[in-house]
Amino acid sequence: MRKLFIAGNWKLNKTIPEALELVNGLRREVGDVEEVDIAVCPVAVCLAEVADATGDSNIKVGAQNIYWEDTGAFTGEVSAPIIKEAGAVYVILGHSERRQFFGDTNETVNKKIKAALKHDLLPIVCIGESLEEREAGKTIAVIQKQCEGSFAGLTVEEMEKITIAYEPIWAIGTGKTATSAQAQEVHAFIRGWLKKAFGADLANDVRIQYGGSVKAENTVELLSQPDIDGALVGGASLKVDSFAGIIKNAVGIKK
Ligand code: PGA
Repeated sequence: MRKLFIAGNWKLNKTIPEALELVNGLRREVGDVEEVDIAVCPVAVCLAEVADATGDSNIKVGAQNIYWEDTGAFTGEVSAPIIKEAGAVYVILGHSERRQFFGDTNETVNKKIKAALKHDLLPIVCIGESLEEREAGKTIAVIQKQCEGSFAGLTVEEMEKITIAYEPIWAIGTGKTATSAQAQEVHAFIRGWLKKAFGADLANDVRIQYGGSVKAENTVELLSQPDIDGALVGGASLKVDSFAGIIKNAVGIKK
């Protein structure tokens, strides 16, 4: 059985006081939900205070990116040991915005995954096709290449620590959700790929989140699909009511 996992990607939003207001509200609304794993991923500078504010609730904290070296002359970067010490449990890696605007590639995502695992962080690895790729019928080929590159050289034990987030780029922040059938098709492909690459047990254990305009209203439809094990939520994670609504709607859906 895979436990559903709902993560909020706050992107470049929320000052420290705003982040604390949001996490305190979530703690009140869903802090004791046990059926679903919950994470919030604030801007790096807010990590420590947000992590403190989660207290002993079931809300965990994640970063949105790391560099693969631990320390050194890498101005402006953060690293796995630094976010770990600040209280991060998870780290989002390879988000399409990082791939699009900040040069992340399958190869650098692979290095970042290895750095995260070395420091016992749990990576949430994002993959997904652009509209152009989908319209050209290349979705599956793109996803396969992203999986092969991002997960190259990892062991089954390492893969067990990973969550995959399938996020069609055309559905991110656009209000255009993939239909549950479109999402399920790609999720099933990813699970099949995991089976071939790492075996049936691993493929059965890895959680694959869907991301792209998830909101409370479409949560049940998407998460009821057999291979959709949660959601990575952007816009709707920035308000207590909308993020808590997604989590509450996910409770009770079984894999
Ligand atoms: P969205 O973003 O929910 O605002 O579409 C999802 C994401 O980018 O992770």
